[in-house]
Amino acid sequence: MIATVCPACLDSPVPESQTPASLVAPTVAIAVRGLCKAYPGGINAVRDINLDIAQGEMVAIMGKSGSGKSTLLNLIGSLDKPDAGSVSYHGIDLREVRDLARFRSREVGFVFQLHYLLPHLTLLDNVALPLFGLRDARDRAAAALGEVGLAHRVHHVPGKVSGGERQRAAIARAIVNNPRVLLADEPTGNVDSVTEAALLELFQGLRTRHGMTLVVVTHDRSVAARADRIIHIKDGAIDRIEPGQGGPKP
Ligand SMILES: Nc1ncnc2c1ncn2[C@@H]1O[C@H](COP(=O)(O)OP(=O)(O)O)[C@@H](O)[C@H]1O
Ligand SMILES: [Mg+2]
Repeated sequence: MIATVCPACLDSPVPESQTPASLVAPTVAIAVRGLCKAYPGGINAVRDINLDIAQGEMVAIMGKSGSGKSTLLNLIGSLDKPDAGSVSYHGIDLREVRDLARFRSREVGFVFQLHYLLPHLTLLDNVALPLFGLRDARDRAAAALGEVGLAHRVHHVPGKVSGGERQRAAIARAIVNNPRVLLADEPTGNVDSVTEAALLELFQGLRTRHGMTLVVVTHDRSVAARADRIIHIKDGAIDRIEPGQGGPKP
């Protein structure tokens, strides 16, 4: 691979990867190379991130508030464009993808701290929305809601269910297209610890049943510990990578 130089924030060549060889090809789901993003005012929010995430891996991203976690996740999810560097999904470089919105809707599910469900729609209709009126949209939405344990709540509006159930519905909406990758930005940040544990079980189940690759931003150590690896971000760069309890056992 040709080393690139990140003009926004670095004057040194980018190393190939900071991931152990055992986790690299042939099962790399997401490859991040030399990723940089600056905001006006000279804030280098993401500085030269290099990372391989394996198919079916769960990676936690930790770091102080303002360290660049959300910016990184949004770049990985192609919600935002980097100033330099690249993100590839299963060998496809996002810079080469013509219809990024379409690619994203097929490949990636997003879960945010706030659920962003539409208040006047039932959970079923909220979850069916990303399917853009496909004939079987409601059946698939019902299946996704069943998968997250909400079969009994499909006809409720978000205001009539609990906070944990709303977040489950947001997860159902994220997986209704069967994406291979799920990106979550502090998904348990707004819920109590019992609900948080249940959401984590849900994430684990998605991995086991569907081989989904999960990238979860969190500042909760108990959440991060469930991951295979914990990526610590400091001032927009990878500070260190630590094995989590989900990772390979010695
Ligand atoms: N849209 C934006 N415009 C300007 N600065 C931003 C914007 N989004 C984030 N930042 C800045 O970039 C840095 C990283 O932010 P963010 O990625 O949201 O961090 P985290 O998610 O770790 O809290 C912070 O200094 C933040 O103030
Ligand atoms: Mg954030």
